[in-house]
Amino acid sequence: MQRIIIGVLGSGKGSNLQAILEAIEDGSLDLDVGMVISDKADAGILEVARSRGIPQIHISSESSGTRLDNETEEKITAELTKANVNLVVLAGFMKILQGPLIDAFQGRIINIHPSLLPKYPGLEAWKQALDAGETVTGCTVHHVTREVDGGPVIAQGEVDIFPGDTPEALHSRIQRAEHILLPMVLGAFARGEVTITKPASV
Ligand code: GRF
Repeated sequence: MQRIIIGVLGSGKGSNLQAILEAIEDGSLDLDVGMVISDKADAGILEVARSRGIPQIHISSESSGTRLDNETEEKITAELTKANVNLVVLAGFMKILQGPLIDAFQGRIINIHPSLLPKYPGLEAWKQALDAGETVTGCTVHHVTREVDGGPVIAQGEVDIFPGDTPEALHSRIQRAEHILLPMVLGAFARGEVTITKPASV
């Protein structure tokens, strides 16, 4: 079985990357982190990688919008390929992928999203769940396709919503669930229990 080498893309503080690295360190997750890439030069995720000696780079996007331009996707694809990455993990990457990266890593890109998809795709999903009066929400790891937050679900974790919850309190409870779910799913990839395939909807 091929050893999994992940490339992690993120725009935020990097707590999911930290959870992955801690699982590797405590021996519960057996894979390599080959490359960490951020579209934001000052993102915490780059510092998390740097402090542990993981290769990390900032690649700035030519486009100011939420969609990544093709040229930037090509640059990211080249860096991931150079690092022998065979599974791409989007952990709080705030740009939408649509082109070369999706084509190059078909079926080998996963994302962690802070809701029980298909409910509440898009931004601030925890706030959407709170505003809708839900009593339960959670997080989802899913395959990435051209449909934003719409690829096949791999695994989900439920999180209770309590009366009086603030968006911040709920988001941090969801993040604690993400830190369990994402390493768990990656473990399943590493053991060959989740196969890397091309989802029909790519
Ligand atoms: C997570 O809540 C994830 O679900 C969302 O962005 C956040 C990233 O957090 N897509 P971090 O940078 O891993 O701390």
